[in-house]
Amino acid sequence: MPLESDDYFIRPATEEDVEALFDICLMTADAGTDASALYSDRRLPGYVWAVPYLKFAPDFAFVLAGRQRVVGYVVGTPDTAAFDRELRQSWWPHVRQEIAAFSPSTPKDVDVLERIANPHSGTLGLETLYPAHLHINILPEAQSGGWGRAMIETLLGVFSKRGVPAVHLGVSPANERAKGFYRRLGFEELSQNGHLAFVMKLNRPAV
Ligand SMILES: CC(C)(COP(=O)(O)OP(=O)(O)OC[C@H]1O[C@@H](n2cnc3c(N)ncnc32)[C@H](O)[C@@H]1OP(=O)(O)O)[C@@H](O)C(=O)NCCC(=O)NCCS
Repeated sequence: MPLESDDYFIRPATEEDVEALFDICLMTADAGTDASALYSDRRLPGYVWAVPYLKFAPDFAFVLAGRQRVVGYVVGTPDTAAFDRELRQSWWPHVRQEIAAFSPSTPKDVDVLERIANPHSGTLGLETLYPAHLHINILPEAQSGGWGRAMIETLLGVFSKRGVPAVHLGVSPANERAKGFYRRLGFEELSQNGHLAFVMKLNRPAV
């Protein structure tokens, strides 16, 4: 799959993509589908699952750009534990200030506020054996065209070049489509305590 076609191309994410990441995260946050009816603030899921990666791990953030707008992203961190330490210091205090006046009115609002109060990224317990983790989301108009594979390969290529030994990612058990996608790409499935994750060991580059 080329990294470019007439309609879309993959490029490194920039600070100008922040609002697109908030939007795409919201539009895919209900097990891969539109969650805008489930949150009373459109930014809530993006605070947790998208934007901090662009801000604090920008070398590992890519977007799928269309002619008019950004339609997808893949973001990640090579070192989940170090990323969490940095967010505790430099991201969560800022988010808590931004949402200080917000009162939750849906169950999903409550879930995200709990996550912001007691934050961790990735899937607990996997960060030792699989230190990197990632998130990928593509809007429906650009799905099923090979771009998901191309974006994952782009990020895993960067992880490999940096000597990252292994990666994990969490998936909602209800997201059948994503589960099929990760299996097809060669990820191994791990299930523990009701949480579903996919993992992959990465080849270190030949020197
Ligand atoms: C899941 C997602 C990233 C996949 O990206 P995509 O661009 O739609 O998938 P691709 O077209 O790149 O598919 C890559 C390969 O996986 C296969 N595949 C995709 N979905 C599959 C499924 N459900 N079952 C089996 N194979 C599947 C494709 O046939 C393709 O195979 P090939 O490359 O060998 O021909 C994308 O659909 C998406 O963002 N969905 C909404 C948000 C979401 O669920 N994100 C993941 C959250 S964990």
